[in-house]
Amino acid sequence: MNISMTVNMVKRSFDVQPDEVLLDVLRCEGYLEVKGSCRTGDCGACTVLLDGRPVASCLTLAAKADGHAVTTVRGIGDQAHPHALQDAFVRNGAIQCGYCVPGAITSAKALLDENPDPTEEEVRLAMDSNYCRCSGYEQQVEAVLDAAAHLRKGDAK
Ligand code: FES
Ligand code: FES
Repeated sequence: MNISMTVNMVKRSFDVQPDEVLLDVLRCEGYLEVKGSCRTGDCGACTVLLDGRPVASCLTLAAKADGHAVTTVRGIGDQAHPHALQDAFVRNGAIQCGYCVPGAITSAKALLDENPDPTEEEVRLAMDSNYCRCSGYEQQVEAVLDAAAHLRKGDAK
């Protein structure tokens, strides 16, 4: 079946199987920033935004994204134009092996879009489905709070 979706602001069409999940379609199409790990919806590595809301792409049928907007961490910001969250993750030492980071930043982006001034507890709650096997949780929470502060001050994008 053929589906169309906007990926990182670019309209794309994909030929997919009815039972194919979004994670596999995205990775096959070169969006390698979307990571797969548990494939059971538990670890958060594969998180992308579907119409602005975080979803586990390993459990989301690609067909469900037909007609919708998908954002990966690369659509949030890239090396040339990093988002405040990406800057803050680097500044706060919140990246160790880096495997969980695309999903963690994507969940954090959804949080800050909805709540620009979260408490530490709200950050922890928003990211409680993003496992970090390097156990860099403290630094990640600090990075999200740091990015939120910069975004509120208006000195970051
Ligand atoms: S790979 Fe999707 S939640 Fe772990
Ligand atoms: S930085 Fe290694 S899994 Fe999180």
